[in-house]
Amino acid sequence: MKKMVLCSLLLMFIISASGCSNRVWDREQVSPEQKIVIKFSHVVAENTPKGMAAQRFAREVQERTDGRVEVQVFPNSSLYADGEEMQALQDGAVQIIAPATSKLGGLFPYWQVMDLPFAFQDTNAVHQALDGSIGQELTESLENQGFIALAFWDNGFKQLTNNMRPIVTPGDLQGLRFRVMMNSSVLQEQFRMLGARTIPLPFNDVYRYLEKNQLIGQENTISNIYSKKFYQVQKYMTITNHGYLGYVVLANKDYWDSLPQDIQDILNEVIAEVTVWEHEAAAELNELYFNALQEKDNVEIAILTPEERKLWDEAFRPLYNYFGRRVSVDLMHEILQQKEQSKLTTGGET
Ligand code: LMR
Repeated sequence: MKKMVLCSLLLMFIISASGCSNRVWDREQVSPEQKIVIKFSHVVAENTPKGMAAQRFAREVQERTDGRVEVQVFPNSSLYADGEEMQALQDGAVQIIAPATSKLGGLFPYWQVMDLPFAFQDTNAVHQALDGSIGQELTESLENQGFIALAFWDNGFKQLTNNMRPIVTPGDLQGLRFRVMMNSSVLQEQFRMLGARTIPLPFNDVYRYLEKNQLIGQENTISNIYSKKFYQVQKYMTITNHGYLGYVVLANKDYWDSLPQDIQDILNEVIAEVTVWEHEAAAELNELYFNALQEKDNVEIAILTPEERKLWDEAFRPLYNYFGRRVSVDLMHEILQQKEQSKLTTGGET
C-alpha cells in the first residue's frame, strides 16, 4: 500500500512538474531555414532534476518563440558522454550542456572548490557562494576560454553507497575502491586520504562496473542513485551529505553571441525561470526518491549523526590545504571563511 502511495506521488510530481501545456503549435509558420535548433546534451536520466529542467526549458522556449527555436534534449549520454561533452560544445556539435561542476576541474581547476567536502552547510550556502565572488571567479575563468555559464542548477548532496560493509566512520573507507567523477583531483584525494582507491569513470559506465564488482562503491546524490538503479547493485548506503553535486549550464560563447538579440532575451528569461523551478524540484525529487529508497529491502541505509559528521569533517580538513597548495590559496581561504560564517548564522556543527 505504502509503495502504491509512493508510486502515485512520484507520478503526480512528474506530471505536475513537467507542466503540461494545452497550447497547439503551428510549426508550419516557421520555415526550416528560419528555425534555430539547439541541441542540449546531458548524461543523466529524464526523471532527475537536470533531466526535467532540460525538458521544461525546451518546452518553454518552443512556446515563447512560437516554434522559431527548437531545443532538442539528449539525456542519458545518448549523444555525448562525460569526457566528450566539452569538446562537442567547443566544436559546435551541441549548443548546450550541463555538466556537474566537478567535471570542469581538468580544464578549469578552480571549479574543484565546489568539491571540497563539508564546504557547504546546505544548498543556501551553495547559492550564496555561486551568486557571490566565488561564482564570479569561476564564471570568468570560463569566459576567457570561450564558454558562457547560463545558470547554476542544483542536484544535491552526495551520499556513499558500497557493496562491502556499512560505512559509518572515516576509517571504514580503508581498502575499498570507489568511482569518482572525472577530472577532479580533489575528489580522488578525498578518498585516497582515507585509504580508499578511486577509479574516475563516466557516469554511464558506473552501473556496469558496480554490477561486475569492478568497483565496490560510489558517491552520488539520491536522485542519481535512484534513477540509475544503483541501489540494485549496492548493499549499503550512508547518508553523509558530505559534498555538493550541482551543474553549470554551459553554451559556446561565440554561438550564444551570434543568436538574434530577441531570441537571446527569451532564452535568458526562460533559463532564469527554469532555474528557480529547478532548485525547488531538485530538493523535492531527492526527498521523494529517498522515501522510495527506504522502501527497498535490498539496501541497508545508515544516517550519520551530527557527531559522526563532525568526525568526517575533521578527517577531510587536510584536503583544504591540498586544494590551497595545488589550486588556489585565495579560494581556499574564501571558502573556509564562508563556511565559518554560515556555521555562525545557522548554529550548525559542520
Ligand atoms: C556523475 O557523474 O555522477 C554525475 O555528475 C552525473 C550528473 O550529471 O548528475
